[in-house]
Amino acid sequence: MRQNIVAGNWKMNLTYPAALALAGEITALLADAPAGALPCVVVCPPFPFLTGVGEKLPQGGPLHLGAQNCHQKESGAFTGEVSAQMLATVGCEYVILGHSERRQHFREDDELLGQKLKVALAAGLKPIFCVGESLDTREADDTFAFIAKQLKDGLFHLSNEEFAQVVIAYEPIWAIGTGKTATSAQAQEVHAFIREQVARAYTAEAAQNVSILYGGSANAQNARELFGQPDVDGGLIGGASLKAQDFVAIIRSF
Ligand code: PGA
Repeated sequence: MRQNIVAGNWKMNLTYPAALALAGEITALLADAPAGALPCVVVCPPFPFLTGVGEKLPQGGPLHLGAQNCHQKESGAFTGEVSAQMLATVGCEYVILGHSERRQHFREDDELLGQKLKVALAAGLKPIFCVGESLDTREADDTFAFIAKQLKDGLFHLSNEEFAQVVIAYEPIWAIGTGKTATSAQAQEVHAFIREQVARAYTAEAAQNVSILYGGSANAQNARELFGQPDVDGGLIGGASLKAQDFVAIIRSF
């Protein structure tokens, strides 16, 4: 059975005190939820805040810690970088990989992402692997071919066992931080397509089990409709994850 997941990508925002306060508020707002009533919630703060935020999340509950990136090598002379194993040892269970901002601003390509996936999996992290088309690609009617290629080149080199640890996030670039959300029908269409690609590359069972999250201007107003789609298993939330009330409203939208 696949899991419903809501992940908050805090990006390069907040100060340490503000991050601790946000984690505390989210925890408090979710404290009265009966066990099993909530989806899996992942908060992904910036690197320096991971330990402190992790300490705010009650063990064994719905809240989990994730990072926004990791380096592609296991360890070594890479000044300023952070390894997957470091993340695992400070309590991270998830790591976002292949976000369009990393692909665009840091030129992360499929080969590099392939290395990052391998080290993340070897460290026991669950990758949240992002795919998504630009507005040009959508307008040229190339969305499906583009997504199929991103999946094939970026992800489908993993073994069955490795793939079973992966969460996929569909994030149309034109919807990220723009206030333009994909309609629930547009999201569902692409999510169903992604699941079909997984079934072809792996098995029907793998396709049924993989969680596929939607990201791109998801908020407390549109989450219920998005999450109501049969192939949308949750969200990767940017802006709206920085406000505890909004993020919790999204979490409660299932
Ligand atoms: P957004 O960002 O919700 O602010 O559009 C989503 C993301 O980039 O993960």
